[in-house]
Amino acid sequence: MSANDKTRHIVIFDTTLRDGEQAPGCSMNLQEKIEVARQLEKLSVDVMEAGFPASSPGDLESVKIIAGIVRNSIVAGLCRCREQDIDAAREALAKAVSPRVHVFLATSPIHMEYKLRMTPDQVLAASVEYVKYAKKFCSDVEFSAEDAFRSEPDFVCKVFGEAIKAGATTVNFPDTVGYAMPGEFGERIRYIKEHTPHIEKARLSVHCHNDLGLAVANSISAIRNGADQAECTVNGIGERAGNASLEEIVMSLRVRRDLLAADTGIDSTQIYAASRLVSQVTGVKVQPNKAIVGDNAFAHEAGIHQHGVMAKRETYEIMTPESIGIPRKAMVLGKHSGRHAFEDRLKDLGFALDSEILEILFAQFKDLTDKKKNVSDRDIEALVMDLSAAAPETWKLDQWAVNTGSALGAAGTIRLKHTNGETKKLVSLGDGPIDSIFKAINGIIGKEPELELYEIGAITGGSASQGETMVRILWKDRYYNGHGVSTDVIESSIKAYLSAVNAMEYETGTSGRTAAEQRSPSGNRKQENG
Ligand code: KIV
Ligand code: ZN
Repeated sequence: MSANDKTRHIVIFDTTLRDGEQAPGCSMNLQEKIEVARQLEKLSVDVMEAGFPASSPGDLESVKIIAGIVRNSIVAGLCRCREQDIDAAREALAKAVSPRVHVFLATSPIHMEYKLRMTPDQVLAASVEYVKYAKKFCSDVEFSAEDAFRSEPDFVCKVFGEAIKAGATTVNFPDTVGYAMPGEFGERIRYIKEHTPHIEKARLSVHCHNDLGLAVANSISAIRNGADQAECTVNGIGERAGNASLEEIVMSLRVRRDLLAADTGIDSTQIYAASRLVSQVTGVKVQPNKAIVGDNAFAHEAGIHQHGVMAKRETYEIMTPESIGIPRKAMVLGKHSGRHAFEDRLKDLGFALDSEILEILFAQFKDLTDKKKNVSDRDIEALVMDLSAAAPETWKLDQWAVNTGSALGAAGTIRLKHTNGETKKLVSLGDGPIDSIFKAINGIIGKEPELELYEIGAITGGSASQGETMVRILWKDRYYNGHGVSTDVIESSIKAYLSAVNAMEYETGTSGRTAAEQRSPSGNRKQENG
């Protein structure tokens, strides 16, 4: 498709680490957030919203650390119209190369009356006051009119106009409750663009939620009608039905640049890795038929389709898997594959890993080839994911055994090693093999977290496939995710449970870390944000 000279650059504002992370069950620990931030930078997102610094000490700390690491994307922190929120953002963003303060206040009648208990005049005055306050230390200020779509359009224009006068460089129009239809949302954006005073001095952004499954359609419609920035999350994670999905917006613009005359600066070949990483660290699986990144997105089952694709790919494919970073099928790796072949495959899969990690991975890969004849890309990805975002291992699996049968319940025995050198062994009875072994682990660690999620699946087809387990536990109002892979399903469950336990130990400071490390918490909380 030929490049269009008039192609507009659409700013991608990723909020996976803020709006995405605040969704039920999507919380991430500090290490996981750092991994995701690094991947977002590889994607080349223009802006990443790293968190809501005033919402918890953990969020403040994680925004601070991410702001110190990220070099090429703008790092944003969310704030209510309150001095302490903006002060917290100032502290958190102090080390950012390109900081952005994101201030929000609701403008819809229902929010102003029942949530804020403020009059429209008070909302207008507060918007101006806090944009000015943020502007004192940050030149890049975004103002969001929460629930803008259900607000009086002329009131939003007025608030946006005053916010721009006060120094806002981006004004954001959210459909907070996902109520809009694409046509009317586009028309509204055009209206706002045409009627907001001084709009030429700011970017107009949209932030769509997916309650009716229309978040991406609404975002695209807004872009067609003049929006300059789209807010979105990887895999569309977010409150309730989620936010607009980054990969769908980006690929819609790329594939239909002929029609939309707009594109982003996203490196689309990093999309697949980003999707896998976010799914892995949140424990939230991507539905198989999800556009762009679902397992079936490029699968052709019907014979007639397969025949067509083999004859000419474009018969049934509008983009290539490679364009989003799904590697071409390569030779299958196995027992006789050497380090070179393994490292090359990792590179093809988009992983740039340091030599220490490579060493560990290669050993794990070799172990796996002893148990499994053919090692697939998904097997390799699972090994990498297992290693990269995991918390330090306070408890390491040493040995395990389970006796189980049809009527008598199960007895699980486990031996764990603590980082302090201690080894502990326990036997527990349970309703089944997993119950007995998890109880034995709880006995050793001396805690009984609630098991919120336990999911097991096969990575590839066939009985020799590796089992992949996702676990989420709840302890003292916080969620911790764990992931495990093994050719033995009980072992993959143990690994997943232990990785969640290790995340919990790391967070709660019982991991034997130094006091300074213990002060580095995460925003892995179960509370409501903006
Ligand atoms: O959905 C929403 O309105 C938000 C704002 C804070 C931008 O997330
Ligand atoms: Zn939102």
